[in-house]
Amino acid sequence: MKNKNSMQHRILIGLVAAGVALWIHAQSADPPLPHLEQNNGRHALIVDGEPYLILGAQCNNSSAWPAMLPKVWTAMEALHVNTLEIPVYWEQFEPEPGQYDYHVIDTIIMQAREHDLRLILLWFATWKNGSNHYMPQWMKLQPGKYPNITGKNGRQVDSPSPHARAALEADIRAFSAFMHHLREADTRRTVIMVQVQNEPGSWGSVRDYSPEAQKIFDSPVPSEVLSAKNISPESNRSWPDVFGRDADEFFQVWHVASYIGRIAAAGKAIYPIPLYVNGSIRDPLNPGWPPAYEVGGPNDNVFDLWKAAAPDVDILAPDIYIADTEAYLKVLELYSRSDNPLFVPETIGFGAFTRFFFAALGHGAIGYAPFGMDDTRIRTGSDGHPLSSEAKYGATARNYRLFEPMARQIARLNFEGRIQTAIQLALDPDAEPGNPVDQENYVTDRSLHFGEWDADIAFGTFYRMARTQPPPETPDGCILIAELDKGQYLLAGYHCRVMFRPAGPNEGRPWEYLIVEEGQYDDGSFRADRILNGDQTDWGLNFPEPAVLRVTPYLR
Ligand code: DGJ
Repeated sequence: MKNKNSMQHRILIGLVAAGVALWIHAQSADPPLPHLEQNNGRHALIVDGEPYLILGAQCNNSSAWPAMLPKVWTAMEALHVNTLEIPVYWEQFEPEPGQYDYHVIDTIIMQAREHDLRLILLWFATWKNGSNHYMPQWMKLQPGKYPNITGKNGRQVDSPSPHARAALEADIRAFSAFMHHLREADTRRTVIMVQVQNEPGSWGSVRDYSPEAQKIFDSPVPSEVLSAKNISPESNRSWPDVFGRDADEFFQVWHVASYIGRIAAAGKAIYPIPLYVNGSIRDPLNPGWPPAYEVGGPNDNVFDLWKAAAPDVDILAPDIYIADTEAYLKVLELYSRSDNPLFVPETIGFGAFTRFFFAALGHGAIGYAPFGMDDTRIRTGSDGHPLSSEAKYGATARNYRLFEPMARQIARLNFEGRIQTAIQLALDPDAEPGNPVDQENYVTDRSLHFGEWDADIAFGTFYRMARTQPPPETPDGCILIAELDKGQYLLAGYHCRVMFRPAGPNEGRPWEYLIVEEGQYDDGSFRADRILNGDQTDWGLNFPEPAVLRVTPYLR
């Protein structure tokens, strides 16, 4: 009896101990590493094990100092972002050779956690906007060891040479120390991605024409370059021989990408979180020839070279400052590929530009981030007075306020290929306020197709079938429609009207709404605040203000 009891006792103690061990492990288990996943050519950034949508903003270049941070956090709060992009400066990080200073990074990470934000850290090192301005002083003062490019005319160009071996080695060492520190200090995964360099390449000279660089240029094209370009390997062919007018540009791109590829590889080997490179991109519709644009970065004509030279760089990302609507949309199309997730790390965050956020989501974007969004610089309006917070951040905040509660759902729906979007392309010159629109032939700017249902979209603000006063001053209408389930749709947008219509085999059949709910996501589930009906649905689903609807149309 005594034996049996003590046996039971021992089993009980064993079970309790195992339970405690499991509990301790669960408490101390670090969240999984952020990473990218691909499925059927679509991409997701996985954070804490689930698809994550970056509702981002980037601060100004000189805002990543502890004294400036309060003015960054106030802006991030007003913007409703979930992710801040913020630089790490090589000159601050390595003030003396081999001495690394982590206190600024640690302060940023700690304060980001206090503000419930994720971070994307920007490694401002060898290249920042094509120059070497963030190299530490001890490097700048040794230009012989860490040289800039020599232009065709023999003059120095304000851009580091991608052939400078000592600079590459120093950058690899510093980046490795930085990534090692992240691995040790950020087990909570506050930092979800790292940008390696900033807008690398050169302005003013297509490549380095120094005697050392010329010697490399005069050598045969390496076989890796030929294979990246799908050119059959023939030995001893020179760059101009193989690439003609593109030779100088491709040479520079290959060497910048290889340089950054080596830095990325070193960092990834230490701490494998997603890495990307941002480009000051050429106009995709009207590129011209270099040096009309920066050469060396991830332009749309050199993806193959970048992917081959820098395989540890996960994303080639466009900084989009192009005002032309068609060109902007073309960039989104060019940078969303099965081998490249679309991520817009810099763009304009004001006025009608912000509707491109919806366009990016329509291309499966994993994230979006307007640039220069903090309170360290007072912006003035055309009257010379400082702009209000609403004027500075209103348009971006309007988007992020709408998407913040459902960012995880949108990221998942996008990964599953269920999302389509439409944006207003231009103001309609005939859209006079008050003009009634014929109900039979209602105006449609764009239709989205979901198999058995089409959604016809008209941009502007409407009451019943008439456009209302005042007409929008800018073409900022936008809508996202996701097919939640067969025949059930999630709609989010503003300044537009959506009319569902049976399509395909059901075209022309009578129909109605089974239910239209207005609400928002709360803790992962849609929560309806009210059911819309009557005037709110009989004339189309109007979005005079940002709103989220869950809509089920049905055939009668
Ligand atoms: C693009 C750069 O990447 C940013 O760091 C910043 O310089 C903006 N241009 C312009 O302010």
